[in-house]
Amino acid sequence: MMTVVSQKLLAPKIYELVLQGELVNEMKEPGQFLHIRVKRQDLLLRRPISLADINPQEKTCTLIYRVEGQGTLDMSELKSGDLLDVMGPLGHGFPVADITPADHVLIVGGGIGVPPLYALSKAITAKGANVHHVLGFASKEVIFYEEAFKALGEVSISTDDGSYGTKGHVGTILDQLVTKDFQPTAVYACGASGMLRRIDQQFHDHPRAYMSLEERMACGTGACYACVCHLQQDETKTKSKRVCKDGPVFQTGEVVI
Ligand code: FES
Repeated sequence: MMTVVSQKLLAPKIYELVLQGELVNEMKEPGQFLHIRVKRQDLLLRRPISLADINPQEKTCTLIYRVEGQGTLDMSELKSGDLLDVMGPLGHGFPVADITPADHVLIVGGGIGVPPLYALSKAITAKGANVHHVLGFASKEVIFYEEAFKALGEVSISTDDGSYGTKGHVGTILDQLVTKDFQPTAVYACGASGMLRRIDQQFHDHPRAYMSLEERMACGTGACYACVCHLQQDETKTKSKRVCKDGPVFQTGEVVI
């Protein structure tokens, strides 16, 4: 059980929840997720929510989530001091061990795929690397953490409706940004499958390009196979990976999105 420290509405239906507990000692990798159970008899499945920030000194972690159903609606009503049933951290996160100050890193996120990239960017910039963030949102009103990302590096924002930043999806920005003059030495992405397919194509053969898949999960621990995806280099189409246990982070060119 973790204790709710605070809960804040960041944008319509998007909440920031700060939790405190000993479990934070286990949270080492950006890109891992927590599997959360809300107190309702009719909702048996846990909700996977990625870690947006980890603060080992204060033993706190931050989750950012969008209200999409009864479970997340219940979560949004949690108040400071409430207890929350949390399993995790689960999955394999983004590899950052080989990042050095010489790296020029590209981080690409879309919508509710953006939160884990904050913890990731903090880990990367702590190693002295340069980071350029390309973040896509539906519209101006659902943008969050812009200033927080700006404190870590450059930020380019696109909105689907053109109400802020570049009109269109993140690919529009990537077309202008990734040129002969800027070839990222490492790429990290998280977002909806359309965006990830774009990243997978553009950086298919990049040796250090990683994507976190958003996938519907059930058990979250590798037991039920509700979250399988297939390998790209498998002509037999029989080999698969579990997003919850083998991922959620995979290299580009590894799995079918
Ligand atoms: Fe059960 Fe991934 S959710 S194996």
